[in-house]
Amino acid sequence: MPAASCCVLSSLLVSALLAQPPAVHNEFRPGERWPDTDGVHINAHGGGFLYHNGTYYWFGEHKVEGRRGNNAWVGVRCYSSKDLYNWKNEGVALAVVPDNPAHDLAAGCILERPKVIYNAKTGKFVMWFHLELKGQGYRAARCGTAVSDTPTGPYTYLRSFRPNAGVWPENVPDERKKPLDGIEKIRFSGGGLPEGYTIEQLNIFARDFEGGQMSRDMTLFVDDDGRAYHIYASEENSTLHISLLTEDYLAPAGRYIRVFEGRYMEAPAMFKHNGRYFLMMSGCTGWAPNAARSAVADSIWGPWKELGNPCIGENADKTFFSQSTYILPIHGKKDAFIYIGDRWNPENAIDGRYIWLPVILRDGRFEIRWLDRWSLSWFDKKEQP
Ligand code: GAL
Repeated sequence: MPAASCCVLSSLLVSALLAQPPAVHNEFRPGERWPDTDGVHINAHGGGFLYHNGTYYWFGEHKVEGRRGNNAWVGVRCYSSKDLYNWKNEGVALAVVPDNPAHDLAAGCILERPKVIYNAKTGKFVMWFHLELKGQGYRAARCGTAVSDTPTGPYTYLRSFRPNAGVWPENVPDERKKPLDGIEKIRFSGGGLPEGYTIEQLNIFARDFEGGQMSRDMTLFVDDDGRAYHIYASEENSTLHISLLTEDYLAPAGRYIRVFEGRYMEAPAMFKHNGRYFLMMSGCTGWAPNAARSAVADSIWGPWKELGNPCIGENADKTFFSQSTYILPIHGKKDAFIYIGDRWNPENAIDGRYIWLPVILRDGRFEIRWLDRWSLSWFDKKEQP
């Protein structure tokens, strides 16, 4: 045997001998690296979760190394798990498009916070996500949709758009349902109103009435009656919209409300407990963590009442260095929900961590406290503080 092949063979042998079988996890360790069943840190940031036929699916942004990892070079990755601790890489559920810079999903676009829901009527898995067109920063503020016959995909991309074009929100007085004089020309983005303007003066949803409402951070929520909702940060991130979807879940149904006007809330996550709707959100400080917000309502159409920061204890004012992405109901366990947040690492996006913590339901509100390690038995034993 030539010496070179012999070398290759023996180094293969050595690595085979050294390779450890991936550890089986039986607890959550918030903030630590979380290897999948191949031993690779899970790559599914800004995630969304789906429970279907006994399996949980985790969809998230596949990030790459460095700052460029904040853009999408791969797409949406999917993992599956039966126990919520051990996750199998199921591959890329929705791929970005490498060779066509004009495509909505051109590699290098921004594709964030994918969420998947199952439509029992059509038998389709429907994905929604936040899309920013390549080279345009966060200006496009669109949502995108994709569909698949299987949970893991691959998903077929459908379209991207600003939702609710030509539709007035339900909960605004008629005097605000009018185009603005001059102010509609103002372009601004992100964390606050331009100086000297009030939210009422800007009336951003009226500026965007024709072209559709801005849609950035988002989630989906399916209610017990099968109706699904798209909840998105709109109006330059100043105000959240809750928008009903059509029966096939593929488009806005033409009915939506504005909530928390001028409160600059992002990263919405919704869950329902004992017939009441709860929302968790962040403030608006980009990748940097801030104090979370929470709110409750008896009807998804409001009125919504703010409940303040649900986090308690050290680093509660920074949401334990995380930002909400989902609140996951645990199948088959009563009153059991998991807070799921991202600990972003914008300098090396692939190394973002996941913060999973139990949601404590108490006195018509909810709380989140830090735990270094915990497992699902936390919910049975009621080891609640
Ligand atoms: C965050 C948002 C993330 C991402 C980031 C970009 O506030 O929640 O999804 O868009 O800003 O700075």
